Amino acid sequence: MILRQTVAEISKSSILKNLETLKEIHKTNGKSRLFFCPMIKANAYGHDDVIVSKILEPHVSHFGVVLLEEALKLRSQGIKRPILVFGLLDSSQSFKLCEEYDLTPVISSFDALKVYMGSGVKKIKAHLKFDTGMTRLGFQKEDLNALKVQINNLTSSLEIEGICTHFLNGEDAKDEEGFTQEQFKSWTEIEKEFSGSYKVSHCLNSAALLSGLPHREKFQLDVNYMGARPGLSLFGYNPGVESTHRFHPIMTVKSILVQKKTINTDATVSYGATWRARRPTVVGVVAIGYADGYFRQLSNQAEMIVRGYTVPIIGRICMDYTMVDLTDHPMKDQIHIGESLIVWGGAHSVNAQTLAKKIDTIPYELLTHVSARVPRLEVD
Ligand SMILES: Cc1ncc(COP(=O)(O)O)c(C=O)c1O
Repeated sequence: MILRQTVAEISKSSILKNLETLKEIHKTNGKSRLFFCPMIKANAYGHDDVIVSKILEPHVSHFGVVLLEEALKLRSQGIKRPILVFGLLDSSQSFKLCEEYDLTPVISSFDALKVYMGSGVKKIKAHLKFDTGMTRLGFQKEDLNALKVQINNLTSSLEIEGICTHFLNGEDAKDEEGFTQEQFKSWTEIEKEFSGSYKVSHCLNSAALLSGLPHREKFQLDVNYMGARPGLSLFGYNPGVESTHRFHPIMTVKSILVQKKTINTDATVSYGATWRARRPTVVGVVAIGYADGYFRQLSNQAEMIVRGYTVPIIGRICMDYTMVDLTDHPMKDQIHIGESLIVWGGAHSVNAQTLAKKIDTIPYELLTHVSARVPRLEVD
């Protein structure tokens, strides 16, 4: 039962449009790329992994998550597509669950391989992850020879379906220093070393897809296809790459007005009296706060949208409420308790990207912080 009117609407048509755009980009040399694996970790970047995976399932080949728990939840909700689990699996039980629920672990270390070998699992598909410069999870170049030996010894119990790497210029991805090119170069060498022992190679996050990496002639590879693992762009944002492609933010956070009052000149608003009225002011109290994932750092900085007009938020954002200044709104007399407001998102100028910029963070953080007490509602 949903009683709250502070909600995050998730637009099915927008995510399908974004998907179409990304698949179009992903097609190179007229060949359709077969491995297309939306990253729906962290509750699909805060959008609700069940809603998102159900919309996408008919149109994609795989899904990517980090936690085994995330993958198990999707299975329990009836998702049938292969699911790659990118997080470290460090127990026999984890690999047994992969076998039982037909999940595909992404193995990133010799330790994980060792745990797998001792797990008693007969045979599963897995992907191998390589670290080409991110210095996070993954085998390193120096590990290649030893890894090849181990993989060759394991052919009867482990099917290496794919190999992958991850680019360090992902979240603010202009790549002026050329890190992506460097990483891609290392990646092509690793691919060659392992050629013949995997079906798919994947490295294309949103930034790499949008910057046209798969189209660069000099990097065209002799592999069957290069897989894509987009996250942010699918949810409607560009991670900072120059691109002619437009994406549609799929989440719109909405709330309602729960009080409206006029205060006198010199009255203050909210904790700490950080905002003081310079004139008689019409204040609206909105039912959203930092416990909903509306970042407190946005206090006195952001705007909301009421009937198509922006109104500034005033004073500190509280745990459950935020105040807005309605004084200059042309319809302020018609705005009453229960009025719906757009807090951010959708096609509006106030969105995860513009708000993130104000507080020196990235849209990924805003999206993933919309809290569990904000119901996600699928809309057309
Ligand atoms: C391993 C991996 N692949 C792909 C992605 C998707 O990246 P993006 O959301 O920038 O497209 C991520 C996101 O952090 C990731 O960790």
